[in-house]
Amino acid sequence: MIGRLNHVAIAVPDLEAAAAQYRGTLGARVGAPQDEPDHGVRVVFIELPNTKIELLYPLGADSPIAGFLERNPAGGIHHICYEVADIGAARAQLVASGARVLGTGEAKIGAHGNPVLFLHPKDFNGCLIELEQVPAGEG
Ligand code: CO
Repeated sequence: MIGRLNHVAIAVPDLEAAAAQYRGTLGARVGAPQDEPDHGVRVVFIELPNTKIELLYPLGADSPIAGFLERNPAGGIHHICYEVADIGAARAQLVASGARVLGTGEAKIGAHGNPVLFLHPKDFNGCLIELEQVPAGEG
């Protein structure tokens, strides 16, 4: 069911410093910060040859990243995102096998404009998993 690794998301306590480190120290292609108010995050996308990194920083009062940074003040890996061809089919298969979909339980439009959903980390070895529907030939 799952396909390519789309991105690894890292919550960071200082977005400018983290972006500068990836651009300078690690020599990566780093984009400009983007606000995603629907998701409560400010994001910097880093393009690697085989995948992407998302640096996540809290945006707004009830950002899902704020609590994570309280528990992990130095930052840390927040979630990993796998691509799926059909998110509705993936969701049905996961729910049938007992996995819990977070939030409303339905897919919503994610940071890349594609439908996404998140799976409960307790069902997947402590790892928050995002599934993103990526049309064939994209990504
Ligand atoms: Co993500």
